[in-house]
Amino acid sequence: SLQVDNVQSLASQNLKDIPSRYIRPELEVDVVSIDESLQIPVIDMSKLGQDDELEKLHSACKHWGFFQLIDHGVGDEVIEKMKIDIQKFFKLPLEEKMACAQLPNNIEGYGQAFVVSEDQKLDWGDMLFLLPLPKPLRNMRFWPTTPPSFRETLDKYSMEFQKVTIHLIKLMAKNLRSDPDMLASFFEDGIQGIRMNYYPPCEQANKVIGLAPHSDATALTLLIQVNEVEGLQIKKNGKWVPVKPIPGGFIINIGDIIEIMSNGEYKSIEHRAVVNPERERLSIAAFHSPNMNSKIGPLPDLVKANESRYKTISQEEFVKLTVSSKLDGKGLLDQLKL
Ligand code: SIN
Ligand code: FE2
Repeated sequence: SLQVDNVQSLASQNLKDIPSRYIRPELEVDVVSIDESLQIPVIDMSKLGQDDELEKLHSACKHWGFFQLIDHGVGDEVIEKMKIDIQKFFKLPLEEKMACAQLPNNIEGYGQAFVVSEDQKLDWGDMLFLLPLPKPLRNMRFWPTTPPSFRETLDKYSMEFQKVTIHLIKLMAKNLRSDPDMLASFFEDGIQGIRMNYYPPCEQANKVIGLAPHSDATALTLLIQVNEVEGLQIKKNGKWVPVKPIPGGFIINIGDIIEIMSNGEYKSIEHRAVVNPERERLSIAAFHSPNMNSKIGPLPDLVKANESRYKTISQEEFVKLTVSSKLDGKGLLDQLKL
C-alpha cells in the first residue's frame, strides 16, 4: 500500500484549504439524500430467549442488515476501559504512535485504510487495526504498550465481543433454520479484527468523508462509538440514514460473508462515516469471520440443488478476492453472485 499523510497531524495544522485528495465532489448532492426519519431496529439480548424478540432479530437481519443491541451482558468496565485506553493512545505524540505503524503491504497497525493508487481519494481519518484472534497469530509488535493497560484491556474486550458474536451467530442460524452448532463451529476459532477509528474535526466537514461508502467484507461487525459524536450512516431505500447510538449499546451489522452464508436472506448494507466540523470522533469496530479452514458459501442445509445464489470459495480465496476487488474497484458480492 502507498504511504499517505497522518490525518490527525494534517488536521492539527488548521490549513486554510485542505488537500484536494480529501475533497469529495460527490458529497455536494448529499443534502437531499439524508433521511432523518428512520432508525435502525433495537434488539434486547436479554429477551432473545423469547420468540417475538428472536423474530425481531430475524427481521432486522433481513430488512436492515443493521441493528442496535442492548442488554448484551458485556460489563461496562470492559467497554469503559477500552474507550479510555484508545483515547489515550490517539492523544500520544505522533512519534509514539508510530511505534505501532503499519508496514508496507500489511493492514495491521497504526495508519490509514488501504490505499492502492496515487490518485485515489482519501478518507479523513486514521486507524489502529489489530487482529486479536486467532490468539496464536497475534502480532504483538503492533499492539500499543502505552497506555500500559492497553494490551490487557484489548484482550478482555476481544474475548467479550467474540462471545457475543458466537451467541448471535447461533441465534441467526436458528432463525435461518440452519444448524446453530455447525455455524458456530466456524466462528469458535474464527478471525477477529478490531479497527479503532480516529476522525479529526474538519472545518470543511461536508466536503470530506471519514470512511467512504462500503459494505463489510467480513461476517458480523460489532461497533461502539467512543465519544458522543455521531457519524455513522447507513443506506436505506437510496438514502443515508444517520445512526443514533444508544449509550452502552452495540451497533451490529451483517457483513458480506453472512449475506453469502444465508444465501442472500440476510443483507450486507452499504454504510459510511461522516466527519464533524468541530469535534473529533472515535469508534471501534470489531469484525468477525469464520476460521481459515471454512468454506465461504451458502450453508449446505439452507440450499437445495441449484438454488445457490453465490459461489462457494475457501476463506483464503475470499481474502484474496477482497483485496483484488479493492484494487480494481469491483463489488465483492457481485463477483460471487451466480
Ligand atoms: C465502519 O466501521 O464502517 C463505521 C465506522 C464508524 O462508525 O466510525
Ligand atoms: Fe464498515
